[in-house]
Amino acid sequence: MASRFFDHKRLEKNVTLLGAAALVVVAIGGIVEIAPLFWIDSTIEKVEGVRPYTPLELAGRNIYMREGCYNCHSQMVRPFRDEVERYGHYSLAAESMYDHPFQWGSKRTGPDLARVGGRYSDEWHVQHLTDPRSVVPESIMPPYAFLKERPLKAGDMTKHLTALSRVGVPYSEEAIKVANDDLKLQTDEFGDLEAFNKRYPKAQVRDFDGNPKQITEMDALVAYLQMLGTLVDFQAAAPQEQPR
Ligand code: HEC
Repeated sequence: MASRFFDHKRLEKNVTLLGAAALVVVAIGGIVEIAPLFWIDSTIEKVEGVRPYTPLELAGRNIYMREGCYNCHSQMVRPFRDEVERYGHYSLAAESMYDHPFQWGSKRTGPDLARVGGRYSDEWHVQHLTDPRSVVPESIMPPYAFLKERPLKAGDMTKHLTALSRVGVPYSEEAIKVANDDLKLQTDEFGDLEAFNKRYPKAQVRDFDGNPKQITEMDALVAYLQMLGTLVDFQAAAPQEQPR
C-alpha cells in the first residue's frame, strides 16, 4: 500500500533499497538490545554477600577447571520451577560477577553444582571424589582419588589476585599482598583469622580433606565446592509469606 508519506511500493520493488532499509531497521533493534550491556554496572545488580574468592577457593576452582568438571556439571540454576525445586533459588548474574572465566557450563551429565555448598559434609565430598560409586552406587562420575595425595601447588597467589584485580575483581592491596598466607590460613582453624574473616566474609576455615598434615588439592577443591551458592542469603532476600 502506498502511503502518502512513504512510497512503500518503490521500496518493495527495489531490492537494494529494501536491503538497505532492512539493515537500518535491524541495526536500531540491535543497538537498543546490545548497547546497554556495555554499561555492565547497571546490567548486573549488586547483591549483598557476593565477594571475591579466597585464595584457597580460587586454587580449588583452578583444579575444577583443570579436571574438566564443567564437562559434566553446570553452575547455573535456570528460573524454571523444576530446577528451582531441585537445586534451590535460580542463579543471579551477580553470583558469577567475579568469575573469570564463568563456569555456567552447557552440559549436565551430573547435577548442577551452583548450590552444592553445605549440602554434603566434607567427608562425603572426599569419599565421593575418591570413589563416587562407594556413596552413589549408580554413579558414572570418574574417581579423583589422586587429589588427596597431591600437595597443593597453587603457584603465586599474589600474581593470581593481581591478574583478577586488573579485570575488575575488587581485591584490596592488602588482600593481594597476603594472598599466599591467606591460602594456608584457611585450612587452620587456630590461626589468626580476624583480618582474614573481614576480607572474606562467610569464608569457611578448616581442614577440608581430613588430613591436617598437609594442604592437598583435595583441600582446595572441597573448599571451593563447599562455598558454591552459600554467599547470598536467599532466606533473608525472599519475600515473607503472607498470613492467610
Ligand atoms: C563424566 C561426567 C562427570 C565428570 C567429569 C564429573 N562428574 Fe561429578 N557427577 C557426575 C554424575 C553423573 C553425578 C551424579 C551421581 C553422583 O552423585 O556421583 C555427579 C555428582 C557430583 C556431585 C554431587 C552433586 C549432588 O548435588 O549430589 C559433586 C559435588 C560432583 N559431582 C563434583 C564433581 C567434581 C568436583 C568434578 C571434577 C573433579 C566432577 N564432579 C566431574 C558426573 C561427572
